[in-house]
Amino acid sequence: MNKSLISFALLLCVISFTPFAHAASYGVIISNSNNNTINIGLIDYSNPSQTYPPSLTVSGLQYNSLGYYQAAAYNYAKKLLTFVATDTATGSTYLYVVDCNKWKVLSSLNIQAGDGSGFRGLAVDSSTDTPYNTWLTYQSGDTLSVSQLDVFTLKAKTIETFPGAFYTSAIGGTRDYSLTFSNSSGLFVKQYSRYGDLTVEQQVGFSINVTPKGPVNMVDTINDMFSSVIITNNDGSTYCAIAGLNWQQAQFTVTNMVSHTNFFPTANIGDLHNFKLFYSIGFIGSQYYVYTYNAVEYKLLSVVPISTPILAAF
Ligand SMILES: *[C@@H]1O[C@H](CO)[C@@H](O)[C@H](O)[C@H]1NC(C)=O
Ligand SMILES: *[C@@H]1O[C@H](CO)[C@@H](O)[C@H](O)[C@H]1NC(C)=O
Repeated sequence: MNKSLISFALLLCVISFTPFAHAASYGVIISNSNNNTINIGLIDYSNPSQTYPPSLTVSGLQYNSLGYYQAAAYNYAKKLLTFVATDTATGSTYLYVVDCNKWKVLSSLNIQAGDGSGFRGLAVDSSTDTPYNTWLTYQSGDTLSVSQLDVFTLKAKTIETFPGAFYTSAIGGTRDYSLTFSNSSGLFVKQYSRYGDLTVEQQVGFSINVTPKGPVNMVDTINDMFSSVIITNNDGSTYCAIAGLNWQQAQFTVTNMVSHTNFFPTANIGDLHNFKLFYSIGFIGSQYYVYTYNAVEYKLLSVVPISTPILAAF
């Protein structure tokens, strides 16, 4: 591989707090601050209003996501966080790999991404150490390229390139990568095996009469692949609902797990320790919230305001 492409982070300033024997209810979060710093740290999902100082800050960078590009992935087994960020001084795009045991940047790679283009839908298969266990989808104009990435060498293999617009993707219980995208014929889900074979290709719809915006931020949970959709009310206000991907009915089944008015989702998380729980993070105006749902009973358990503007969470 082209060695000149690899540049180890120069801008790095490491702050180590590490309350982190990775207690069961903790997760890893990404936020931006001051327009030029990425903060990586912890959230306690059992007490989300508790704010921890960032465990790692990387200055001169902004995390690349409007809250629905899924430009980050977390390997729960290895505690490795991979994300896409922009150098605020040069506008260059970088792929970063961070060790969340040591709160250390392991590597960064300059990955030129043109205007209106970029890396979406990062997802990692935490159950395997084999190389190329990380997936990403590159949007270039109206074209999508699905690739598998080895985060240790930062080499990628392109699996497939086709016309489409990215919506959301996730790795499910079968360890397949599911990618939701649209083209001029409609909304589709493609599924790829861990070996990179296309296994399913299905046109999908929604269980409700109105066409919502989305789906975005798909994640795997104990019984469903859940995404967020945004539904517009008659008065123009919106709300967010959690929708499960139902293959048999070829649709996103919109549940009654809904947000308050004008909530905009930034991150969804299936709890790996208490499989019943599902979290949805987002904002109303400038206030961020953590919604906790029981994903088995499809019930809202709590809504907690938080002070960190979380853009990605695991
Ligand atoms: C961040 O950028 C926005 C838009 O350019 C600006 O309005 C805002 O004041 C900046 N915030 C900080 C903390 O610099
Ligand atoms: C849209 O995607 C589906 C699924 O891959 C494909 O069968 C169909 O031909 C595509 N339509 C267009 C117009 O590219």
